[in-house]
Amino acid sequence: MKILVTGGAGYIGSHVVKLLLENSEHEITVLDNLVTGFQETIDALTVIANENSKTLNFIEEDLSCFDKIEVIMTEDHFDAIIHFAASLVVPESVENPLKYYLNNTANTANLIKCATQNDVKKFIFSSTAATYGEPDPALVNLETGLKESDPTEPINPYGMSKLMSERILQDTACAYPAFKYAALRYFNVAGSDPDGRIGQSTENATLLIKVAAEAATGKREKMYIFGEDYPTPDGTGIRDYIHVVDLAQAHIEALDYLEDHESDVFNVGYSRGFSVKEVIDTMKKVSSVDFTVEIKERRAGDPAILISDNTKIKNAMNWEPKYDDLEVICQTTLAWEKRLK
Ligand SMILES: NC(=O)c1ccc[n+]([C@@H]2O[C@H](COP(=O)([O-])OP(=O)(O)OC[C@H]3O[C@@H](n4cnc5c(N)ncnc54)[C@H](O)[C@@H]3O)[C@@H](O)[C@H]2O)c1
Repeated sequence: MKILVTGGAGYIGSHVVKLLLENSEHEITVLDNLVTGFQETIDALTVIANENSKTLNFIEEDLSCFDKIEVIMTEDHFDAIIHFAASLVVPESVENPLKYYLNNTANTANLIKCATQNDVKKFIFSSTAATYGEPDPALVNLETGLKESDPTEPINPYGMSKLMSERILQDTACAYPAFKYAALRYFNVAGSDPDGRIGQSTENATLLIKVAAEAATGKREKMYIFGEDYPTPDGTGIRDYIHVVDLAQAHIEALDYLEDHESDVFNVGYSRGFSVKEVIDTMKKVSSVDFTVEIKERRAGDPAILISDNTKIKNAMNWEPKYDDLEVICQTTLAWEKRLK
């Protein structure tokens, strides 16, 4: 297959591209405007491609340039698209919602339009647990995890921009039966390639494990716990942290799945959670650094527990996680952080 990977110079996309280059015969083209992705990542992936006697095609382009995207899609005849490119900072989405509706929803709609016009058969979409919003404990079982059929009530423009894209995919697949999609709702993504060749280089990251790794490497003086009075065993919020390589593998399985199944939405997580304190303690243990942690007030919109029910993807696909271990997630995050300047 010829596969277009948008956002392949970014954190998660680059891990998927690496797996595709190492383990498949597909021809890969990355399209990225490098707004939060890195040329160094493309360079590292190019080396990996060469080692595997392959070529990595890279197009530096912005998805909002609709005319150019149309030309690329018409000329290149892709069989599948894996669409990572997006803006993803939740507080920024509240301050600047139009940036999110334009970059995440409008650009996705245009990409889907070009896909249907050019016979693209498979579309894998990066969705998010933010589509669920702040789940109502009266309606969902937070302990066993969120199901794909649970209510989706995003509480910020980021989550809504992704939910709208899911809806556009659903309606398009109804209208164009040859077009199939899998929307993967990622939970908290962390860790990096165990080979240490790519990782998360995102600047000003707000994700807990990355922040803890920055504190452990002295890039931050201290870090904060937001809220210590949640109804959880140690009072801090519980989240479902998934290693990026397991998440990447789910995309490969989703491509196979669409070969002979219909479009669908899947959670991708481990169906178990760790508290903020457990994560920090694990990062301190693997780094042997007792960095400073301060307690602050809860942040608005942070639910006590957010974990996935991954029964659906496990039953549907051959997806078998290999890195479901908090120490490994923290170690690989830390190893990459040490390599970054
Ligand atoms: N990181 C997480 O924890 C997480 C959780 C849930 C969902 N997601 C989703 O996963 C996807 C990838 O996230 P990530 O963490 O790898 O982020 P990232 O910022 O590292 O990667 C996004 C990539 O898309 C590119 N991009 C953005 N807008 C573009 C545009 N208009 N045209 C071309 N390229 C553009 C960026 O340059 C970057 O390389 C996103 O869609 C995000 O919403 C991420």
